[in-house]
Amino acid sequence: MTQPSILITGCSSGIGLATALQLKQRGYRVFAAARKAQDVTTLQTQGLESIQLDVNDTASMKQALDTILTLTGGTLDALFNNAGYLQAGAIEDLTRDAERAQFETNVFGPMELIRLVLPIMRKQGHGRIIQNSSILGVITLPYYGAYNASKFALEGFSNTLRQELRGTNIYVSIINPGPIKSQLRSNAYQRYKNTLAQQPSLHTEIYTRMEQVYFTPGEADTHLMLKPDAVAKKVIHALESKRPRAHYYIGLPAQTLAFVKRLLPDRALDWILNKIR
Ligand SMILES: NC(=O)c1ccc[n+]([C@@H]2O[C@H](COP(=O)([O-])OP(=O)(O)OC[C@H]3O[C@@H](n4cnc5c(N)ncnc54)[C@H](OP(=O)(O)O)[C@@H]3O)[C@@H](O)[C@H]2O)c1
Repeated sequence: MTQPSILITGCSSGIGLATALQLKQRGYRVFAAARKAQDVTTLQTQGLESIQLDVNDTASMKQALDTILTLTGGTLDALFNNAGYLQAGAIEDLTRDAERAQFETNVFGPMELIRLVLPIMRKQGHGRIIQNSSILGVITLPYYGAYNASKFALEGFSNTLRQELRGTNIYVSIINPGPIKSQLRSNAYQRYKNTLAQQPSLHTEIYTRMEQVYFTPGEADTHLMLKPDAVAKKVIHALESKRPRAHYYIGLPAQTLAFVKRLLPDRALDWILNKIR
C-alpha cells in the first residue's frame, strides 16, 4: 500500500504541530504547512516535510499545492484545515476589519483550499477533509462573537459539503475541541492588544478579567485543558475509519455542552453559558 498523504495547515504550534508529528510517526506522508518561513525551517529541522502556506493568500495556497502534487505525483489523500485564530471582544466593540480578518482566516481560507483539493480527490476517487471547528462552532459565549460567527460559518459550509459529496468516497468530518493547550490564547491576546485594547469600551471590566484569566491562564485553568494530542487521536479516526463521523467532540466540556445544547431551550442555555464565560 502507498503511504497516505495529508496536508495540514497551521503547523507552527498547537494542534497542527501535534497532529503532524503523530501522523508522521504513524507512517503518513505529512505536508506540515506554516505561514512564516522561519516556522517552515523549524518544522523541517523536526523531520517534517514543511511547506509555506498562508490561508489568507490564494497564490500561496496554489503554490503549496503545486509543490505537493509534484512531490506525490499528483495525489493528496487528505486535508486537515486546522489554521485559525481567535478574535476576542464584545460585538459592539469589534470593527468590520477585525470581523473580515477573522472570516478570511477561519472561513474563506479553508473554503478556498477545499475547492483547490477537491479536483485532485475527485480524480483519484477518494479523499478525507477534516475541519477544525470548535465547541464554539456549536454553542456561543459572550465576548467571542467574531470567533463564534466564523466557526458557525465553518460548520455550515462543512455540513453542506458533506451532503454534496455523499456517495463520492470523499468524506468530510468536523472536529469540535473544547479547551486545548496551545498558542491560541497567547495569539488571541496579541490580536486583542492590537485591536480592542487600543480603544475605549463599556466592557473594560470584562476585558481586564479576560486579560487575567482567559488570555493568561494559571496552573489551575491549564490543568483542565487537554493536550493537542487528544485532537490528533480523533483526526486519526476521521482519516482511517471506514465510516468517519460527521462530528468529533473532544473532551468532557465539549461533549457535555454539545449534549446540553440539544436538550435545553435557548434561555436556559444562555443562563448556563453566561456563568461559564
Ligand atoms: N486551543 C483550543 O482551545 C482550541 C479549541 C477549539 C478549536 N481550536 C481550533 O484549533 C485550530 C488550531 O489552533 P491551536 O489551538 O492549535 O492554536 P495555535 O497554537 O495558535 O495554532 C494556530 C495555527 O494557525 C496558524 N495560522 C493563523 N493564521 C494563519 C494563516 N492566515 N495562514 C496559515 N496559518 C495560520 C498559526 O500560525 P502562526 O503561528 O503563523 O500564527 C498556527 O500555526 C484553530 O482553528 C482553532 O480555532 C482550538
